[in-house]
Amino acid sequence: MDKNKQAYYITTPIYYPNGNLHLGHTYTTIVADTLKRYKNIQGYDAYLVTGTDEHGQKIQDEAKQRSMTPLEFTDGIVATVKDLWKKLEIDYDQFVRSTDKNHEENVKKIFQKLYDKGDIYKGFYEGYYCKPDEAFWTETQLDEDGNCPVCHRPVIKHQEESYFFKLSKYTDKILELYESNPDFILPERSKNEMVNNFLKKGLDDLSVSRPKKSLEWGVEVPFDEDHVIYVWIDALSCYLTGIGLGEDEEKFNHYWPAGVHLMSKEIVRFHTIIWPALLMALDLEMPKQVFAHGWILFDDTKMSKSLGNVVYAEPYIDLYGIDALKYFVLREFTFGQDGSFTNEKFINRVNSDLVNDLGNLVSRTLSMVDKYNNGIVVEAKKSGEFDADLIEQAEATITRVEEEMDKFAFSYALEEIWKLVRRTNKYIDETQPWILIKEDKDRLDAVLYNLVESIRIISQLIQPFLPHTSEEIFKQLAIENFGWDSARNFGEYPVGNKVNKGENLFPRLDLKEELEKIQAANEKLFLERNSKTDKEEEAYIDFSDFEKINLKVGLIKSAEDHPKADKLLVFKVQVGDEERTIVSGIKEWYKKEDLIGKKVVVLTNLPPKKLRGIESQGMILAAEKDGDLSLLSVLENIEDGAEIS
Ligand code: MSP
Repeated sequence: MDKNKQAYYITTPIYYPNGNLHLGHTYTTIVADTLKRYKNIQGYDAYLVTGTDEHGQKIQDEAKQRSMTPLEFTDGIVATVKDLWKKLEIDYDQFVRSTDKNHEENVKKIFQKLYDKGDIYKGFYEGYYCKPDEAFWTETQLDEDGNCPVCHRPVIKHQEESYFFKLSKYTDKILELYESNPDFILPERSKNEMVNNFLKKGLDDLSVSRPKKSLEWGVEVPFDEDHVIYVWIDALSCYLTGIGLGEDEEKFNHYWPAGVHLMSKEIVRFHTIIWPALLMALDLEMPKQVFAHGWILFDDTKMSKSLGNVVYAEPYIDLYGIDALKYFVLREFTFGQDGSFTNEKFINRVNSDLVNDLGNLVSRTLSMVDKYNNGIVVEAKKSGEFDADLIEQAEATITRVEEEMDKFAFSYALEEIWKLVRRTNKYIDETQPWILIKEDKDRLDAVLYNLVESIRIISQLIQPFLPHTSEEIFKQLAIENFGWDSARNFGEYPVGNKVNKGENLFPRLDLKEELEKIQAANEKLFLERNSKTDKEEEAYIDFSDFEKINLKVGLIKSAEDHPKADKLLVFKVQVGDEERTIVSGIKEWYKKEDLIGKKVVVLTNLPPKKLRGIESQGMILAAEKDGDLSLLSVLENIEDGAEIS
């Protein structure tokens, strides 16, 4: 803590440790880390809190499945989360686990305070619960299929005794907050959604506890041992405990209110309605800004572990380094909008921006300084055409980057720097040093100086985004980092200095080869992470568990392509006297015409589920290993509808 500097407090969500974190979580954390580095460079005392949200139904269930206690289970995952942040060199200041004793004690105090104030009362709750999202919804909030409005998975109807927070009381105050701070929620679209979808309709009071008989794994309500505190009050409070609430008042007062809470859009309601209302009730200041970025999509769907379409960061870091991954996510996805992740895009962008633009600029320039001047950067005595344009752009870029960063526009900030990279490359083509060496040595010296100096400015500017690359460029330029503001002035590179050309910054990548490498690395990791531990393999189920599963023989009568999904087939399957529509992802392995007339095994008592708009009424079973797949059938001919037991 540096009390002489202005504090700038940044948070990421505290992530659910119910599995390894994927590229979506990594994205928010990379952004937060970059912002912290940038703010520090700007002279702030920036502080970053991240962590894990460890209570709740989902974790309780996951642990039970593995015959572990919830804490044993989350301890293991938290270790992998910390490893990932270490690997990515995330410079966080505090990692809050919602199971930390201090955090739990403070959550109780917060709940008690809200209760004493009369903002919490006991009532009766009826609603729909989405287990994967740990969110409750009213009937009117459900999507058109009656599923969770956020993830569109089935919800469970719920009725129970509950404590309520008087959220309704804060409707107008929150609207006033938005009006008096027009940039409180960014981007604007998120604000409009909050106003139109929730605030204008008037807020309902919020259920903030669960009876212990339905959820044990949570912080106990301090004055009622039969209830635990709902995960969201618990989770949001980490933003306060992460900077020393109840422990270190000086630190807390220095960093609070937060400069920005970062997250993606599915939890913006919690951060811009529930969180401000809780803070108002606690008489605490409002965070300055809440930024809801978009989703990283995979196959047009939000990447999520429970949907099984995740990409992990580790293979990309191992194969291409931290800076390449950071550059890609910060540059490719416009902050605030959704963006699709593909390996092709990744390799193509690394090749075009890092290898061709930046890497080439540095290596071409330093090779010429070596070749023409034995590595010495000579004074620029003779100016010429194109200099003014290059110098003007080099000096102006820093302000443009700052303007974009003030709007959290990371991709545009990088684009401004890359405009300078490309301008500098163009300067080489315009001035043609290989001709000047024969015709005008003084002019050549000036051109080389300008190139080196432009690279110095670029290296300065990329520092908060790509610290390793920046450090490497400074090393090859054989200078220290002169500080952020030095990028405002062209001409600071010391005349007479000898450069120290090294390896190319980024090796050129062959698209086809790299795609194969990435796929192999992703598959290996996916298998490692999804294969069961010995303990899980050993866990027995009761016969009554098996009896819950209804398996029957089905006869495939027809098979069609799914109109909206490349990988899915839509079957009509006769199961005794009923015909079922079943959507299945086996298209990669079978020709649809080969399947008609085949007898298969159908799981018939799964709840119907819409898959890309078509309701699937069951599941066709298949065996799978190492990428091979085979449908299950029966040895002898038996009538469809026959039960399997
Ligand atoms: N535990 C809650 C947050 C409580 S904060 C007081 C939670 N956890 S989570 O593990 O589901 O993480 C959600 C966050 O992870 C998102 O808000 C976003 O920051 C990040 N992402 C997870 N998947 C993502 C994408 N596919 N794309 C971009 N970011 C996403 O919600």
